[in-house]
Amino acid sequence: MSSQDIPEENLPAERADEHGHGAVAVANEDNPFADPGLPPHEHRIQDIDERAAKRSERVVAMLFTLSMLATVAFIASYVTIPNDKSIFVFPLGHISALNFALGMTLGVALFAIGAGAVHWARTLMSDVEIADERHPIEAEPEVKAKVLADFKQGAKESALGRRKLIRTTMFGALALFPLSGVMLLRDLGPLPGTKLRHTIWSKGKLLVNVNTNEPLRPSDIAVGSLTFVKPEGLEENDEDFQQEIAKAAVMIVRLQPDNIKDKRELAWSHEGIVAYSKICTHVGCPISLYEQQTHHVLCPCHQSTFDLSDGARVIFGPAGHALPQLRIGVNDEGYLEALGDFDEPVGPAFWERG
Ligand code: FES
Repeated sequence: MSSQDIPEENLPAERADEHGHGAVAVANEDNPFADPGLPPHEHRIQDIDERAAKRSERVVAMLFTLSMLATVAFIASYVTIPNDKSIFVFPLGHISALNFALGMTLGVALFAIGAGAVHWARTLMSDVEIADERHPIEAEPEVKAKVLADFKQGAKESALGRRKLIRTTMFGALALFPLSGVMLLRDLGPLPGTKLRHTIWSKGKLLVNVNTNEPLRPSDIAVGSLTFVKPEGLEENDEDFQQEIAKAAVMIVRLQPDNIKDKRELAWSHEGIVAYSKICTHVGCPISLYEQQTHHVLCPCHQSTFDLSDGARVIFGPAGHALPQLRIGVNDEGYLEALGDFDEPVGPAFWERG
């Protein structure tokens, strides 16, 4: 029921128009945009029917009473339920009876207070919208003039204009002081230098399977398989293992040489076996998903996708550039080896901007 359906004499004495409802300014030459004001106020059923208002009042009181009962139950549970008693609650299984009772009663007590307050506000409190005009926040001209005069007076009394020696040394002290903060930056540790641009891969390092810890031969790599490798000599119990593997982690995949479209990729591979950095060039997550049919690898963090048959270029997602490729070959004993380090920094593109 809206106020339009109610006879005028039954409406409450308060009129919405008193609060700026309806148009409050018309357009003219000085002000070409009319202020539409607030929409007409609609009376709620509780505003015009005392019985409905009483019903709402009872609902609110009932919710507040429920909250009181729940609080009493909370205290009673705390006092009476032993600490080690457990109960079965589907689907949680066996849980502490005390924790369950405390959680439930506290939850009901808080919920009932909130629900009661919301129902009270929505049905019984005044819902007339009021436009409150903003006042200018600028200070009065007299106040501004006084502040300026006080400032000039202060400057004059400090004799800063006359005492040039004090003024010069003060500015010197203020300018130098922040340098002490700059010096503290040294505590962040030694500068990384070029360390982040290189990995421990070098010419002749064997490609070692991270799972078996054995060097790999080309015959160990089946077409379509994905294998994770580390450089020979890097062991898990090495002190700097995490630091080094974070840059040197490599994945190798065997493709049919005919499927490799990128000429450099083909030249840096061995019998279709290609080795790429496993560190995503977006923000450095380890790449782990390989789609055999499409030759795509996918980063699980933000779904960047790289095409391993085409120089690992980015075909989808936020990564900024292709995965760096490691040039590989086979040594005299038939093991896969690196033919050098990566020729670009691995991981996020940040280092390329330096
Ligand atoms: S870290 Fe790989 S897509 Fe974001």
